[in-house]
Amino acid sequence: MLDPNRPNPLRDPQDRRLPRIAGPCVLVIFGVTGDLSRKKLMPAVYDLANRGLLPPGFALVGFARRDWVNEDFAQIVHDSVKEHARTPFREEVWRQLLEGIRFVPGDLNSDESFDELKRTILELDEARGTGGNHAFYLSIPPGLFDEVVGQLRRHGLAEQRGGQWNRVVIEKPFGHDLTSAQELNRIVSSVFPSQSVFRIDHYLGKETVQNMLALRFANQLFEPVWNRNYIDHVQITMAEDIGIGGRAGYYDGIGAARDVIQNHLLQLLALTAMEEPTSFDARQLRSEKQKVLAAARPPLDLAAHTARGRYDGGWAGGVKVRGYAEEEGVSPESTTETFAAVRVDIDNRRWAGVPFYLRTGKRLARRVTEVALSFRKAPHLPFTNSDTEALGSNALVMRIQPDEGITLRFGAKVPGTQMEIREVNMDFAYGGAFTESSPEAYERLILDVLLGDPPLFPQHEEVELSWRILDPVLDYWASTGDKPEKYAPGSWGPQSAADMLARDGFAWRRP
Ligand code: BG6
Repeated sequence: MLDPNRPNPLRDPQDRRLPRIAGPCVLVIFGVTGDLSRKKLMPAVYDLANRGLLPPGFALVGFARRDWVNEDFAQIVHDSVKEHARTPFREEVWRQLLEGIRFVPGDLNSDESFDELKRTILELDEARGTGGNHAFYLSIPPGLFDEVVGQLRRHGLAEQRGGQWNRVVIEKPFGHDLTSAQELNRIVSSVFPSQSVFRIDHYLGKETVQNMLALRFANQLFEPVWNRNYIDHVQITMAEDIGIGGRAGYYDGIGAARDVIQNHLLQLLALTAMEEPTSFDARQLRSEKQKVLAAARPPLDLAAHTARGRYDGGWAGGVKVRGYAEEEGVSPESTTETFAAVRVDIDNRRWAGVPFYLRTGKRLARRVTEVALSFRKAPHLPFTNSDTEALGSNALVMRIQPDEGITLRFGAKVPGTQMEIREVNMDFAYGGAFTESSPEAYERLILDVLLGDPPLFPQHEEVELSWRILDPVLDYWASTGDKPEKYAPGSWGPQSAADMLARDGFAWRRP
């Protein structure tokens, strides 16, 4: 028997694994029939269970407008796990998980459905020992948040009582501009206190994104050159080779800038540019990110330093593909962009005069996300011009995905009797350096929600600061009334994006 006055000896804070096992709880997912839930959330829950990070007192409840019983939902979870889980399927793990799987059929605006949800949860608390701890994952359009959080409040499922918790998890888009983001925040925060709200930006759950903090703050090597004295510009790229697929309903009217720049790319910018936090405590980390986002601003000349495009039809990767305008569900009047690029400047001592170029697009040449710091040229080159013809700028590239790792690019002498200098790469690859594979972003983030560990979740201040940067760009594009410039599928985007950098004397990297 453990002495209640002495801490459990198995929970040593020095231990790397035990404190990171979730305590007893119920995870309720709204919108279980959606893509995100099937491809990411349910597989991530299984992967966590398989890695031994969920307790026996864990339950998963699905809520949707479907005429299903528990077994039908369990089958859906089973199929999505089989198809999308990262770790191998093990019958004994599945059986354990299955015991805690429930389904509540119903409408988001029906009181009876929420009565039923409450009954189900209380029954699980009793029967499975889930301890009165509940996480509500709203994998539904933001227009429905108001209804759901209102229902949770009315049914006493948002109360924070004693040692028990109720948390809410929300997914982007966090609004479509600053005003709507503030409204959304008002709705959610009228029911849940800020420490119980977990906003998911799945990029922050990526191993390589967290490694940006390790690279910058665990090493002495990089910090001295991480500033305007050595860096002349930064490029942040998130390129996808796929089109919008069947997502026109979500994507049309939203577009690349709102879908990716407002959240993922501005978060990458914040992690690249922020000062060192005094610790990785959520408050410290967020406060540094907020400071740098507050110092970041959109370009003064919006025509010169923004670009947008939309993919045309044609051939990409040996396949004939439709243009954006021909995709199913896209409105004929649509002015939605599938490519966006914008220059952001940071008005502080470290970064004044160093442009950060952000670009994202669909149907580009390949899938790649990276942050590249480009260094100034050496102040003096004691070589002839022809010696250094093949020497570009030194660069440090954080490869977020795929082929995760870090590249340092610099000049080296080509072997031979001549002095000829050419660019070479020095590479760190995750795959080569470590044997364990990286968990999926959603595994990390769902576990953090269940543990109540907040550093990786942006708060509404960060969301609002990001809209402050993007709103003027979106307003400017809307004011022109133009359709975005076409670009060929499989290319690197519209000509205007190349021109935008050329104006400043730079060129986009070929990642
Ligand atoms: C999502 C966007 O946030 O990120 C999608 O809404 C995009 O449009 C996706 O495809 C890309 O995520 P990842 O992890 O594959 O880079």
